[in-house]
Amino acid sequence: MKTESNNQRGFWGSRMGFILAASGSAVGLGNIWKFPYIVGQNGGGAFVLIYLVCIFVIGTPIMLAEFTLGRKTNRNPVGAFDQLKPGSSWTGIGYMGVLAGFFILSFYGVVGGWTFAYVVKSITGSVLAFPSPKEAGEFFGNFIGNTGEVLFYHALFMGTCIAIVLRGIHGGIEKACDVLMPTLVVILFLLMLRSLTLDGAMEGLAFYLTPDFSKINANVILVALGQAFFSLSLGMGCMITYGSYLSDKENLTSCTVYVVIFDTLIALLVGMVIFPAVFAMGLEPTEGPGLVFSVLPTVFASMPMGHGVAVIFFILLAIAAITSGISLLEVVVAYFIDQRGWQRKKAVLIVGSAIFAFGIPSGLSFGVMADVKFLGMNFFDHIDNIASNYLLPLGGMLTAVFVGWVWGTKNAHEEIEKHENEFGFPWAQCWEFLIRYITPVAVGIVFIAKFFPH
Ligand code: PFF
Repeated sequence: MKTESNNQRGFWGSRMGFILAASGSAVGLGNIWKFPYIVGQNGGGAFVLIYLVCIFVIGTPIMLAEFTLGRKTNRNPVGAFDQLKPGSSWTGIGYMGVLAGFFILSFYGVVGGWTFAYVVKSITGSVLAFPSPKEAGEFFGNFIGNTGEVLFYHALFMGTCIAIVLRGIHGGIEKACDVLMPTLVVILFLLMLRSLTLDGAMEGLAFYLTPDFSKINANVILVALGQAFFSLSLGMGCMITYGSYLSDKENLTSCTVYVVIFDTLIALLVGMVIFPAVFAMGLEPTEGPGLVFSVLPTVFASMPMGHGVAVIFFILLAIAAITSGISLLEVVVAYFIDQRGWQRKKAVLIVGSAIFAFGIPSGLSFGVMADVKFLGMNFFDHIDNIASNYLLPLGGMLTAVFVGWVWGTKNAHEEIEKHENEFGFPWAQCWEFLIRYITPVAVGIVFIAKFFPH
């Protein structure tokens, strides 16, 4: 029975609240910070195209599957699989998801901290003092190498996520998402107009939108796939967890479509802001994690009322990071509440602190630990790589197999249609086909190609 007295859990206050919260989880640093720099590193337009295919062919069906599992079971990822196939090893997918949430938030919190710092630095104007992205990039490099400052802001970010998740679903998470999302879109539009009117912008647009398939190999496809999962918050049961707070009367298919479209539009829009500016300002698109932090301050500095726009932008970026950070934290917390019977307060405080502590080496990866490398990557990159490029796609693939073959699309279909929501021809057939055949096979092929390169 779904009752509010299911007290440590709670429910969304409205359908719009749910869509905004799920979009809040999806839209975050993945769209604004990560998407542009990996597009830049992986060759531009062709990567974008493959990313879009991954979003629509693989990500969208899995999102619907995750919402359905969550609403059906009212559980965290471990509990959800356990409820449908008690005592089976399918619960392993859930555990993998909880682990992925723990890993991702550990480095996500570090970058979240960077955004907090940039809110402060844009208010004081210090980030706007540079005539070119090169100097802005050096300023950023110095900042992320400063142990005290990085850890301070990292702690502040994690503390904020903890404070919100402590207040639960409806009071905390939902309210935080309501205002932010629409404002973010408006600001991005303004920035796009500025970027596109810079001298030399068209070269950047060509890099971003013209596919050059010679740049594609198995690794690039795996990164695109990982980014699709990361950006849509899939493959680790985050959307199972959010779906578990959803009431029976909501239409799961339309929620899925809104969230996917919104998330994808934001990412594409961010590319339209960043790449014209990168090329116009003579920067390399392969710059890496500092890309957005070097390019945007210079764009702000070159526009009318740039100071105000910069402050608003970094505040929104920080909030977008928080609304995703809380969803990552909630997955791990929900596991301890549902499966271990912990009180919300205890779960949030212990889990939040543990994730912060585990994130410290990621925070130091661009400073005192920059030379601690294994296989050419620092700690931060390893955790990101393991979680985003392996745990998420693997989790997503197994979720698809579970829903398509083990629990079965018939059961899933019933849950989707529970409240007179028509999920009929051709969409239902199309979804079933994708979730049973295409999604698992496509992810499987990418993995095989990655591990057995010819
Ligand atoms: N989707 C978030 C982003 O793009 O920033 C990151 C994320 C949140 C990934 C929640 C996974 C997740 F479960």
